[in-house]
Amino acid sequence: MNRIQYTLGCTLLLMWSWGNVMAQLPSKDQFINDLLAKMTLEEKVGQMSLFTSDWDVTGPSLRPQYKEDIKAGKVGAVFNAYTAKYTRELQQIAVENTRLKIPLLFGYDVIHGHQTIFPISLAESCSWDLAEIENGARVAGEEAAAQGLHWTFAPMVDIARDPRWGRISEGAGEDTYLGSLIGAARVKGFQGESLKSPNTIAACAKHFAAYGAAQAGRDYHTVDMSIQTLYNTYLPPFKACVDAGVASFMTSFNELNGIPATANSFLLKDILRKDWKYNGMVVTDYTSINEMVAHGFSKDERQAGMQAATAGVDMDMQGAVYMNHLKSLVDKGNVPQAAIDQAVRNILALKYDLGLFEDPYRYSDEKREKMIVLSQANLEAARRMARKSIVLLKNKNNALPLRSNQKVALIGPFGNEKRSLIGSWSAAGDWTKSIPVLAAMQEKAPNNILYAKGCNINDDSLQYIESALQTARSADVVVLALGENWDMTGEAASRSSLGLPGVQQQLFEQIQALGKPVVVVLMNGRPLCIPELDQKADAILETWYLGTMAGPAITDVLYGDYNPSGRLTTTFPRSEGQIPVHYDMKNTGRPFDANNKYTSKYLDSPNEPLYPFGYGLSYTDFTYSKPFLNKKKMKRGEKLNLTLTITNAGKRAGEETVQLYLRDLVGSSTRPLKQLKAYQKVNLQPGESKTITFFIDESMLSFFNYDLQYGAETGEFDVMVGPNSSNVQSIRFELQD
Ligand code: NOJ
Repeated sequence: MNRIQYTLGCTLLLMWSWGNVMAQLPSKDQFINDLLAKMTLEEKVGQMSLFTSDWDVTGPSLRPQYKEDIKAGKVGAVFNAYTAKYTRELQQIAVENTRLKIPLLFGYDVIHGHQTIFPISLAESCSWDLAEIENGARVAGEEAAAQGLHWTFAPMVDIARDPRWGRISEGAGEDTYLGSLIGAARVKGFQGESLKSPNTIAACAKHFAAYGAAQAGRDYHTVDMSIQTLYNTYLPPFKACVDAGVASFMTSFNELNGIPATANSFLLKDILRKDWKYNGMVVTDYTSINEMVAHGFSKDERQAGMQAATAGVDMDMQGAVYMNHLKSLVDKGNVPQAAIDQAVRNILALKYDLGLFEDPYRYSDEKREKMIVLSQANLEAARRMARKSIVLLKNKNNALPLRSNQKVALIGPFGNEKRSLIGSWSAAGDWTKSIPVLAAMQEKAPNNILYAKGCNINDDSLQYIESALQTARSADVVVLALGENWDMTGEAASRSSLGLPGVQQQLFEQIQALGKPVVVVLMNGRPLCIPELDQKADAILETWYLGTMAGPAITDVLYGDYNPSGRLTTTFPRSEGQIPVHYDMKNTGRPFDANNKYTSKYLDSPNEPLYPFGYGLSYTDFTYSKPFLNKKKMKRGEKLNLTLTITNAGKRAGEETVQLYLRDLVGSSTRPLKQLKAYQKVNLQPGESKTITFFIDESMLSFFNYDLQYGAETGEFDVMVGPNSSNVQSIRFELQD
């Protein structure tokens, strides 16, 4: 393919839709080699620069002249611009004005839905439902693609074990195994079978790496961790994304053991490229090259640009560092030309894979946009996902489900709340379209819902409490909708105390003192410290931020039209003082012993969290048989079978998540008390039983040892199975050479 053919293709494609005319391109390598050979250094640097449009603000400092930059060929990609019309307009500037007519790449934070907003990622992870999570990403990708987008900055696969960190809401929780499965499912959902399909978008594994381990849960803070923890806990979800074919990676803001991730060639070259054989594109986070000056790693932006480019960073997000310095860095021999060529090759390869050289406008499709965006089918998928994301934390005396003839007082600042339902990073979501709990409950039980706000989300005014008490007095049961405002989680939203904000706790106490059954519906983006609610409420539903269809989904669960099946993927501490607390901690040399002062414990709190990882109730009861292991000794290369029977001993159909954990009793370096290694979801009718089998193989026993050798060590293991990480039955077996 030569330039004349390409130009001709573009011109024709302006006149006909992409379906009618498709340019025939040579092979990717040949095409890119030809194009690279024609490009000047300035044009190459242009491809390596990504800027935001003025449609959305996802970080500091805009570059208002982005359109002139595009026209001048100084920009290879744009983010925060969407709709078929607007992306087409910007694409036209690039394709019609620049010398080589290289199409722009359009990126956006399509994190949990695009316009149809799904539950926040942490919520979705509580479904443990990979097919549904993949489908959520597929729907988001389809809507985004129809609006001209090619690329999402998702999935966020940072393991997060500190609920003070606001971005815990954006990931899949604390567990490495589940986080890896979910990361891969999201990549598959966004990217589908082929990036070339105009219904799919490129995914981006972020934030590489260890961003979730920010000290003290304060966003952007330092990360200092052992290399073994990095390999065993924080890297596997990224590796899972590579194995799933993720098209791009984003470097993180943080430093890791003294080296900022954005200039960390150990991460970007040794691990990502060499060990994992990743050959996609690497973009920075928002101005993270510039920030290396503040980190104290670069004396100025020029040096930062040199460090990032030589460490293997292909694209500069919003920093203008490459734009301002890269050409002269290459001219002066500070950055090798080969590094630039490789970066541009990676970027052009992505554009090629997306089909942009065949038709730069193929994603900006107004017809498809009208048909797909917020379609009934997408709203139903969002409602399904939302129901599955809800976790029932407490249900004393079967306070739930409600009966539609009960007089219910819906009280609390989240009863009629719309904005918070779609959470942070809600992309092009329109919060006015989200359905609040009040409207959904009124539809379900038209004459039986009373409502009072009770208080605001986050101020100290007590003026609404009296009328809320009044309302509660005339009801049979109170549903109290409490939580955090949407912007109290997400980026730059760390909190040092994790109780309910404002006077919500007071509202709860006064309502509870009336003696009516109280069902708390929580809306929040992180685990909260809520021991008093746990003690005094009759029922607690953790609903997170469930998206556009939050109200109907919550109502489905409140009235038993859906039996809650979510399981926590993040531990709920009793108090902030327990943080970090996660289920796969180690034993220590002095494990807890109530009768021995000199053991590992607190004077003022139990070690156990309020709700453990994997925990969640149902409206029915499941019983577990004793598990059976077919052999107690296993040779390398062999498998063991663990069998057990689960019975639905209650009166409603329900779904149980059977969890399997392993413990390596003695290791060449110490091992966690348990680690999730498998799980199965089982749907059971009342009275029904199912026998399930888990296979245990050597890979499930493997880890990176002190010398970073990966493998299983011979010796004894405990296999544990149960409904959550704190409630397991255990069998011992041995791995032998
Ligand atoms: C900063 C965030 O850290 C990142 O997750 C996001 O993708 C970019 N801004 C772009 O909005």
